[in-house]
Amino acid sequence: MSKLSKAKVQTAEPADGFSKSGFILSAIGSSVGLGNMWRFPYLTSGNGGAAFFLLFIICLLVIGLPLLLAELSIGRGGRGNAASSFQNLSGKKAWGLFGLISVFGSVIIMSFYGVVTGWTLYYTVRSFSGFLSRQTAYAETFRAFTGSGYGPVFWQLAAMALTCWVVARGISGGIEKFNKVLIPGLVVALLVLLVNGLTLSGAKEGIEYFLKPDFSKLTPESALLALGHAFFSLSLGMGTMVTYGAYVNKRQSLKTASFAVVGGDLLYALIAGLIIFPTSFTYGLQSEGGPGLVFIVLPAAFHAMPFGSVLGGLFFILLAIAALTSAVSMLEVPVAYAIEKWRWSRTKAAVLTTAVCVCLGIPAALSAEGPWKGYVWLGRTFFDWLDYSASNILLPFGGLLVTLFAGYVWKHAAEEAELRPLWGRIWRFVLRYLAPVVIVLIFLYSAGILKL
Ligand code: PFF
Repeated sequence: MSKLSKAKVQTAEPADGFSKSGFILSAIGSSVGLGNMWRFPYLTSGNGGAAFFLLFIICLLVIGLPLLLAELSIGRGGRGNAASSFQNLSGKKAWGLFGLISVFGSVIIMSFYGVVTGWTLYYTVRSFSGFLSRQTAYAETFRAFTGSGYGPVFWQLAAMALTCWVVARGISGGIEKFNKVLIPGLVVALLVLLVNGLTLSGAKEGIEYFLKPDFSKLTPESALLALGHAFFSLSLGMGTMVTYGAYVNKRQSLKTASFAVVGGDLLYALIAGLIIFPTSFTYGLQSEGGPGLVFIVLPAAFHAMPFGSVLGGLFFILLAIAALTSAVSMLEVPVAYAIEKWRWSRTKAAVLTTAVCVCLGIPAALSAEGPWKGYVWLGRTFFDWLDYSASNILLPFGGLLVTLFAGYVWKHAAEEAELRPLWGRIWRFVLRYLAPVVIVLIFLYSAGILKL
């Protein structure tokens, strides 16, 4: 029997799937997340502003877009979960086992992402209860909250319970509905904050800082950071887009969806920068990275601003929405796996995978600025280890798997992606040569093997 005829190629439409707009909104919801809001501005400011932004755009278009299209095509062509889709298309168990790595990756990322999503919920609630209108030492407040132990664990549980509830309701009745309500809300909040940001007195200075390229600050490392960020930002390498692809019907264009996701992600990053830099410049709060920017610096800026309570509340809602719409896409990966593999009901799969993520997430919640911060192993806390191993090891590995699979193993990839012959050849070139080389470089660099 030929390899191809052994392969289980399933063409049936999924029993529960996305509508056209629901799919595009949900995929944008997955990609737009915490990564865009604090990671991107921080990386940009540390790497030459617009020069880094330009690199990020190149990475999104040249590597991110082809890889995204490949993930969606594998999902729709294989009609399985993040592991079985590979097996269905190749007829080989080994590919399914490789795909399992991305299922693990998504559980690990979900565990610490749930913690930070909990922080955004806490800040949303607090800002509407007048927190931003009081004179507060925001750095101390942040540390007191994260250091309290029970606070971050409680809010992590709240974030995970909400995510679990949405995923348990299924694709059309849960994930799609959730995104259809929240993404327009996200756009409105984003536009209000953008208009506000652009009218602040320090807007010009902030925009210049963000958009005036300084090529002298670019290093080879910036290119790798830009690529790694493009990966994280588009939710690639973790089976998310493979899983979502399996719920898309054959009448939808995966190309259009991929362009919409990349465009949406880019626009969101641009607008996030146009909100954050003018705000921090106007109030003399130079941008710093990581949790500090979003949870310490911005509350101080909103405090000083007219209508700051409302605008600040809006900002944290925006952040919480972005985080939750990404979280549901992450949880769906192990849930889809468990439903297919063990024939569990969706509710059982959602509850049990949430329980695993919560168990892994509790030590993460306690160790990120919390009482277990002191427990460090090889220079990293538990929270840092989850982040590091998933973002720098599992994610590039998952991405590499996708490029090799769509580039070499699955012969009908370009047909599923509906690419014309010339574009199909260019796509294949990127998947076969360009993307794997670049991913291996990132991998070696982040593992500390390659030093620049
Ligand atoms: N793309 C999300 C962000 O930028 O925050 C992060 C993410 C979502 C990573 C979904 C992985 C994933 F499966």
